[in-house]
Amino acid sequence: EEKSEFMSFASHQVKGPLTNVKVATSMLLAGDFGPLPDQIKEIVKGLYDTAEKAIPMVQNFLDISKLEQSGGMQFDKKPIDIRQVAEEVMSGQKITAEAKGLGLEFSVSPEGNFTVNADPTKIKEVIFNLIDNAIKYTPRGKVEVTLRADGQNKKVLLSVRDSGVGLTADDLVRLFTKFGRGKDAKRVNTHSSGLGLYLARQIVDAHGGRIWAESEGSGSGSVFTVELPTDR
Ligand SMILES: Nc1ncnc2c1ncn2[C@@H]1O[C@H](COP(=O)(O)OP(=O)(O)O)[C@@H](O)[C@H]1O
Ligand SMILES: [Mg+2]
Repeated sequence: EEKSEFMSFASHQVKGPLTNVKVATSMLLAGDFGPLPDQIKEIVKGLYDTAEKAIPMVQNFLDISKLEQSGGMQFDKKPIDIRQVAEEVMSGQKITAEAKGLGLEFSVSPEGNFTVNADPTKIKEVIFNLIDNAIKYTPRGKVEVTLRADGQNKKVLLSVRDSGVGLTADDLVRLFTKFGRGKDAKRVNTHSSGLGLYLARQIVDAHGGRIWAESEGSGSGSVFTVELPTDR
């Protein structure tokens, strides 16, 4: 308990300055202070990328420590349009996908109710992690995000399909556990914590939903789906 409290304090203290770095470097890159020489631009871009990668990681530490404290994770639930949340996350990750030469497609079925009673920040973290993973674990090809409403069962389903490294049967049981990582993923990306999907499952459970993964095996890509109950 004491250790978790310290972790959450420390993560919180680190997140602020990292966010400042991200904001300042993005302003520099946007040319808010005039054009930058190419060499400087490269350095600033590097700083921006570092902050951008570190912030979700620190956020995961914050969530984990909250989860392990007696109060657990707190959710500030209100009616939100899941389409809007998904779109926001997607637009933030477009650049990352493009830089890797990956396609990033979004399709929403036009009809239905997409309003869920949820904590927008937490749901955003879940969707962010799924798309971040799909991009991270896909060396080439594309990432397709689809959103549809299942009116009959009063649910919305968001799927993230990629053409990446795929998952083995062993991986499938491990992924959603704390620090759980897949076999092939370790080769593709060594800088990761294996906390994202564990947290995603806790968050989705707390919203009365489900999250699962499917894959035809190593090298065949993966599909991750989140299902959440709608308000009516
Ligand atoms: N789209 C994906 N394709 C292949 N493996 C994946 C994908 N998403 C998640 N994984 C596997 O699940 C593990 C856990 O994911 P996550 O908890 O988000 O951790 P991290 O992003 O830190 O690797 C990953 O390390 C990887 O092995
Ligand atoms: Mg992740």
